[in-house]
Amino acid sequence: MTLMRKLQMGAAALALSTSVASAQGVEVLHWWTSGGEAAALNVLKQDLEGQGVSWTDMPVAGGGGSDAMTVLRARVTAGDPPTAVQMLGFAIQDWAAEGALANLDTLADEQGWEAVVPEALQRFARYDGHWVAAPVNVHSTNWVWANTALMEELGISQPTTWDEFVAAMQAAQDAGYTALAHGGQAWQDATVFESMVMGVGGPEFYQASMVDLDPEALGSDQMVEAFQRMETLRGFVDDNFSGRDWNLASAMVINGEALFQIMGDWAKGEFVNAGQTAGQEFQCFRVPGTEGTVTFNSDEFAMFNVSDPAAQEAQLAMASAVMSPEFQIAFNLVKGSVPARTDIPSDQFDACGQMGMAQLAAASAGGTLFGSMAHGHANPPSVQNAMYDVITAHFNGEYDAETAAAELVTAVEIAQ
Ligand code: GAL
Repeated sequence: MTLMRKLQMGAAALALSTSVASAQGVEVLHWWTSGGEAAALNVLKQDLEGQGVSWTDMPVAGGGGSDAMTVLRARVTAGDPPTAVQMLGFAIQDWAAEGALANLDTLADEQGWEAVVPEALQRFARYDGHWVAAPVNVHSTNWVWANTALMEELGISQPTTWDEFVAAMQAAQDAGYTALAHGGQAWQDATVFESMVMGVGGPEFYQASMVDLDPEALGSDQMVEAFQRMETLRGFVDDNFSGRDWNLASAMVINGEALFQIMGDWAKGEFVNAGQTAGQEFQCFRVPGTEGTVTFNSDEFAMFNVSDPAAQEAQLAMASAVMSPEFQIAFNLVKGSVPARTDIPSDQFDACGQMGMAQLAAASAGGTLFGSMAHGHANPPSVQNAMYDVITAHFNGEYDAETAAAELVTAVEIAQ
């Protein structure tokens, strides 16, 4: 072969490999649109782009992902699923049951996922024994985020009982501050509500009502009390809460306009993104009454069945990147969550992250780790949405607490 011919072939091979590499890409449907979330997502984007996997962004705003799931359904119905989708708990299982998700077993076996992903997460990341999603993180929802300067100004220390919590909010309100930063959206109401359920009735009651959907628990006096606590909280929310996004509520605490926010630890991502430090400008503590328990949700990337081999390769590259220990640290430091692997040291995490990791491990060992209802890990989407409706209708004054508990029983029955 002449030198010229060799060079021509080399150039052709190079062109081919470049075109395969540039054809590799993932289209990612997700709801990470706040400042802190976008910063975390960027960690993943850059990681993949560094490996030659291009990123097509498909953001659908709305915490809890209800709106993202509606868009996803439309895309799949149109025969055009995104390659990778941020997904929570029972929704993953629903899509897997439809046969829509790719099988990640080979990669999972190669990388030994089974040994490092906690059982509670495998229950959602695997369907019928097969891996169908790669878990990115573990969030938990029963947190309060607090402005330290305001606490000091008002002479408040971290409350450990419901009464102390209410007294602290009263002090803030009396001093002219917003006591509780909240955004009136169904998923935010539900996020707060699940901590009221846990706080009133403890782990057994949470299990019976939110997970087992026992009608007696759903309609019980304890449930009435959980709704009454929501009424108390409603009295500490400012007039403009309706429709407010959760990150704008976090901003009220960050700016010192509001004392507390009850929200999952994605809120920490906003504080960190604003340059604040856990234990300094802001504090985190468990919702009073829920100490010792953790209600969790794990963001996972489910890969949809695609036929293009380059797209399949890109999916595996993404799943592999997500599961790497380095990524799990880098991403979760920014996101506010904790790693989805049990073999990651906690030393690089801030005070709230270290607390979160230790409490997650303790709750998992002690049987007090429960899936978040508000974030798709306690019951299927149909039931979750039925619960959302009742919780929000009550929060907006449509029902009193007794009626709300009765409505919850009926709504859950119909949804099953
Ligand atoms: C949750 C999700 C978190 C966070 C939050 C608010 O459902 O698991 O990662 O982003 O919504 O958008």
